[in-house]
Amino acid sequence: MPNIVKIKNKIGNFKKTIKVPGDKSLSIRWVLFSSLAKGTSIAKNLLMSEDVLAAIKAIKKLGIKVSLTKNECKVFGKGINGYKYKKNLKIDAQNSGTLGRLILGLLVNSSEPINLIGDKSLSKRDFKRVSDPLSKFGAKFNLRNNNSLPLKIYGTSNLKPIKYIENKGSAQCKSSIIFAAMRTNGTTIIKAKKSRNHTELLSKYLRLPIKIKNKKKFDEIKIKKVNKIIPLNYNIPSDISSSAFFIVLTALSKNSELIIKNVNINPSRTGIITILKRMGVRIIFKNKKIYKGEKKADIKVFGSKNIKAINCPPALNSGAIDEFLVIFLVAARAKGISYFKNLGELNQKESPRLKWAEKILAYLGVKTITTNDSIKIYGKPNLDLKFDKKITIKNYLKDHRVFMTSLIAALSFGGKWTIHDKDSINTSFPNFLKIINDLKQ
Ligand code: S3P
Repeated sequence: MPNIVKIKNKIGNFKKTIKVPGDKSLSIRWVLFSSLAKGTSIAKNLLMSEDVLAAIKAIKKLGIKVSLTKNECKVFGKGINGYKYKKNLKIDAQNSGTLGRLILGLLVNSSEPINLIGDKSLSKRDFKRVSDPLSKFGAKFNLRNNNSLPLKIYGTSNLKPIKYIENKGSAQCKSSIIFAAMRTNGTTIIKAKKSRNHTELLSKYLRLPIKIKNKKKFDEIKIKKVNKIIPLNYNIPSDISSSAFFIVLTALSKNSELIIKNVNINPSRTGIITILKRMGVRIIFKNKKIYKGEKKADIKVFGSKNIKAINCPPALNSGAIDEFLVIFLVAARAKGISYFKNLGELNQKESPRLKWAEKILAYLGVKTITTNDSIKIYGKPNLDLKFDKKITIKNYLKDHRVFMTSLIAALSFGGKWTIHDKDSINTSFPNFLKIINDLKQ
């Protein structure tokens, strides 16, 4: 089967209800927490994507048994100190920054050195952001060029608690530090710039010794040594980051309506909703519920006839960090100039995403002014490409969100698109194209 998708036609109007797969951040965290629990944890609706399967492989390498069927995943945890550290252990985080960075926090007390590797994209990403704080606990690191994979971690039983200011707004760094703190005598104090808080909410739900003070820009987290984690049965709600592609597809399709069922709407993840509402898109939450400390709801989106430009406040950035590429497509159709700033972290993702935004918008004929950390988008309310305008998307380090954003652009604005590396969707959203096809029926 060719690994290419060709799109020749825009999508017509649709009125449908869909379900997208389980949340990636929660799925990976569930695997890691369950691997530390004493007893059997069961997850339903776990995201079956390459990133999560890599997390399962990683805990198996650490001696934890897992049983996986189509409907559920069982992890047979052996307790907080239940990992078996074999000689010459190699863990492959594949494409997953979340797995690579979070698991290092759990390996700070390993009795054997462990190699961490990743794919081409992950090997370009910064790991110093976690090796720095984890070194303060007492673990030692060898990193390629001092900041990237492959790396080797040398754990120690002599861990000390730390005080740390996490000022990138990275949930992966914050979570890695929380995991290391759980293995340390004494109290670790983290002052963390706002970022998604799933690790904290799960820790609280599991009644771990964690205290959180929410301040305006920072959260103060205090965490002590954890002696026991109880098994965690979890029905994972759907991923708002996967929903984002369909939210935008609907918003850009004037007479369409879409309901996305049972989505995690943790306020630290709903930046896209706030941003699109401010741009004039009608979105409502229905059937709101709290589940194990997390909020969830059905999301209803309406096609939009008048999209307004936005000067996006940086306070909304962390809550939409994975969604900007696709949000920029909405700005491309807006009346006026949209401005997104303080977004240097976008170039630290699976590919340099600000650069890719600039490229995709240029293919669409939309003017942008891009710096290292900002983009101005000169919206065109009647944006529509000629049916024979040829666009090819390739060599984007297989960044799943570049693939999916390009596909949404093709279906929304027209043109003749050839999008390479279809298999990139397997990292986060294997049935993405199936749902697209269902919407076309
Ligand atoms: C994630 C945190 C974010 C996000 C990533 C998932 C997580 O990254 O971009 O896709 O699950 O903790 P940073 O921690 O780098 O902000």
